[in-house]
This record gives sequence, structure tokens and C-alpha cells, in this order.
Amino acid sequence: MQLWGGRFNKSTDKLVQMFNASLEFDRRLYQEDITASCTWTKGLERAGILTNSEAKTILNGLAKVRSEFAENKFIFHENDEDIHTAVERRLTEIIGAVAGKLHTGRSRNDQVATDFRLWTMHTCSKLIDHIIKLQSALIESATNNLNTPMPGYTHLQPAQPITWGLWSLSHFWPLQRDIQRLSQVQDRASSLPLGSAALAGTSFAIDRAELAADLGFNSISENSLDAVSDRDFAAEFLFSTAMIGVHLSRLSEQLILFSSSEFGFVSLDDAYTTGSSLLPQKKNPDTLELTRGKSGRLVGNLTGFLTTLKGLPSAYDKDLQEDKEYLFNSTDTLILALPVMSGVISTLNINIDKMSDSISPTLSATDMADYLVHKGIPFREAHGIVGELVLLAEKQGQDLTALSLDEMQSISQHFTEDVMETFDIQKALERRAVIGGTSSKSLDIQLQSAKDSLANFNA
Ligand code: ARG
Repeated sequence: MQLWGGRFNKSTDKLVQMFNASLEFDRRLYQEDITASCTWTKGLERAGILTNSEAKTILNGLAKVRSEFAENKFIFHENDEDIHTAVERRLTEIIGAVAGKLHTGRSRNDQVATDFRLWTMHTCSKLIDHIIKLQSALIESATNNLNTPMPGYTHLQPAQPITWGLWSLSHFWPLQRDIQRLSQVQDRASSLPLGSAALAGTSFAIDRAELAADLGFNSISENSLDAVSDRDFAAEFLFSTAMIGVHLSRLSEQLILFSSSEFGFVSLDDAYTTGSSLLPQKKNPDTLELTRGKSGRLVGNLTGFLTTLKGLPSAYDKDLQEDKEYLFNSTDTLILALPVMSGVISTLNINIDKMSDSISPTLSATDMADYLVHKGIPFREAHGIVGELVLLAEKQGQDLTALSLDEMQSISQHFTEDVMETFDIQKALERRAVIGGTSSKSLDIQLQSAKDSLANFNA
């Protein structure tokens, strides 16, 4: 069935029919479509357009269509252009001509915008649940090795000692921002377009506030012309999912490095790795590589959709049909990638000895400079002095910490016996007692704060 055709002399070209159709992907909006149609039916009844018995017939018919979908018994027809057409066609088969009254005062333009917003609101919650699981895995990992020392890197060069707790929580907070973003997107999606009809608003006395309350929307769109074409929520959703992709990709990259034999800080559980068909000794981090790789499509979906949006004139244009595949694809990608990453983190084996053995003595260089600062030397000068010590140690082919006190004093008289304390990793960690730092107290506070943020969101 086609929802239009009265003014046409010819039927549509087969290829055009295929080109135009969106059923293949928008069929997953069936729940939202039926729900919004039920609400619209009640609105029409309240506006006096449908009698009580007509409304009942339509609602019963829609319930039957919904159960056919739920039981996988719904049969699509070759001519069903999209999910809206398919539902209305089936409703007509079940209840007859009265089904033709459902679309009174409504257009597919406000219908699809409503369905898609409902879907987005619901999907944001689903993604948030998956993120929370990953965050819980990171919190558990942080808790188990909160104060376990490891080398910290900048520019991928060993820089200062940190702890496993600091490292794992550094991947918790970006996800927390992702959750905040998704819940803002959810809020923005929650503005009801239904009642805007094709572009100028419905001419029937529909109470849009009642529709919004019935469908669980927070507000009602202010302008019918804007409402039917506003896909900002979809673009923001794609940005939020792209950002999650980038966060997962960075975490993946780091774990791929840490699990290489050169680092050897962690090893991935067998369940989350795969073998090589040629090299028997290999255990490949494919799950992490795929997560890193798939971030490309998440970013691509965002840029693709923004490009689709940018040239559109007022109100609905068919270009907007493109919105769905981008969001479905980004969602499907994350609905797999997030739980896989949770599994990787919760089964990760951490090699404590390898991490602490990898803390090179030169990682104490900043602490030596700070030591001189405590003796009243300007930091720039202290930086230069320690630089000279590093050079001297390098020339002698030994570690910074192996220099004798005499050798240190040959460069600065300010070094005394107590300089040796700066080489103590534990003390170096404890000295960073600021909020967000590596001291055990700071880490306790951070861990608690991470747990509180999660609990607040769950509440
Ligand atoms: N399948 C269309 C979409 O997803 C539904 C809206 C069609 N509206 C129209 N005026 N042809 O965007």
C-alpha cells in the first residue's frame, strides 16, 4: 500500500520505489510508531474527531499489530514504503476503513520526528546503562590496585611514577562526561513535534500538552516549521556516541601497548583475545583493535549526518530519512563495544612486578628538582642542575640514582645526604597529596567520589 497516489497517472518506477523505501531500516521503530499512533488516536477522540467506539476499534487494532510484531508474525508487503505505511496498511486489513481516520491532522513528517525522538530518548538510557557497567569494572580494577605503582607517561615517554588506581580512574571520568552528555541529549530529544503536521500545525483542536504527557515528553516544540526538520538531537546523539568511541579507542590503544611484551604490564584474558592462523605463539588483542577501529565509523556517522543537514531548506525534506541509519549504526556498534570492553577490564590480569620494575630511576628527576626548590633555588635553575646530572649519569652509562653525593655536589652544593629520599617511589607518590594526585589519601578520595557519581546516576 502507498499512502499517496491520488494525483498520479503512473505508478512509481521499481528502482525509485527501492530508492525511496526506508522500511529495511526503520522497521525497528515499530514500537515507537505504534505508541505514538495510540496517543494520536486518543488526542483525536478528545478533539471530537473520532467517536469513542472508533477510537476503541483503532486502539484494539494497533494492539493487535503490536502483538504481531512482538511475536514475529508481522508480514511485510513488497509495497510497504516505510514502517508508518506498514503499520497503517496492516491496521486497515485488521479493522477496515475506519483505520483511514487515524492519519487525520497528522503527517508522516511530525510522525517520524516523534517516533525517532522516542527511540533516541530510550536509546540514551540503554547506552547509559552499558557505560555504567564499564565504569563499575574500572572502579573495581582501581580498587584492587589503587596504590600499585607503575610508570606514568607523557608523549609516551616515561615521566613520573603513578599508580594503577590513578590510571584506571583516568578512564572513568571521560565516561562520566559521556553519561552527562547522553542525558542532556535525552532531555533535548524530549520535545514533542506531534501536532506540527506537515509543516504548519494541525488544523484540528488537538491538545498537544496532553499528547506530550501521554508520551513522556518534557516539553512541546514551539514552531511547527522547525519541529518537523529539527534533527539537532540526532546530531548531538551522534557527537556523544563519537566521543564515547574516541574514549574507548584511547583506552584500547593504551591496553594494546600495555599488553605488548615490550611493556608487559597487563595480559588480556584468553576469552577476550584471538589467535593467529600462522604464528602459534601469538595472542592478539583483536577486541581492542576492533574497538579502536570502529571509532572511525562513529566519527564518520557524525560528519556524514552533519553534511546531510547543512543545506536543507525549511521543514521536512527527504534527505532527513538518512538520519536513522547513522544513529542505528552508531548505537549497534556501541551496544557491542561497551560490554566487550567491560569484559576486557573485569578479566584483565595485572603484572604488578613488571610495572614496578619498569619505573626507571630517572623518573625521580622532577622530585630532585623539587628538592632543590625546597632549598630555595628557583625552579628554572633547579631544572637545569638536574638536567646536568642526567647528562652526567648518561655519560657514565649509569642511572641517575647511582650518582654519588660527591658527583651531585660537583654540580650543585645544595645537595646533601637527604637527597637520597627523593629516589623513594612510595614517598614520591605520597608527596602528590593534592586532590586528583597520587597519594593514597588523594586516591581514596577520588575513588569515593567516582563511586558517589555512579550511585547518584543510578539513583
Ligand atoms: N520514511 C520517511 C522518513 O524516514 C518518513 C517521512 C516521510 N515524509 C514524507 N513527506 N515523505 O523520513
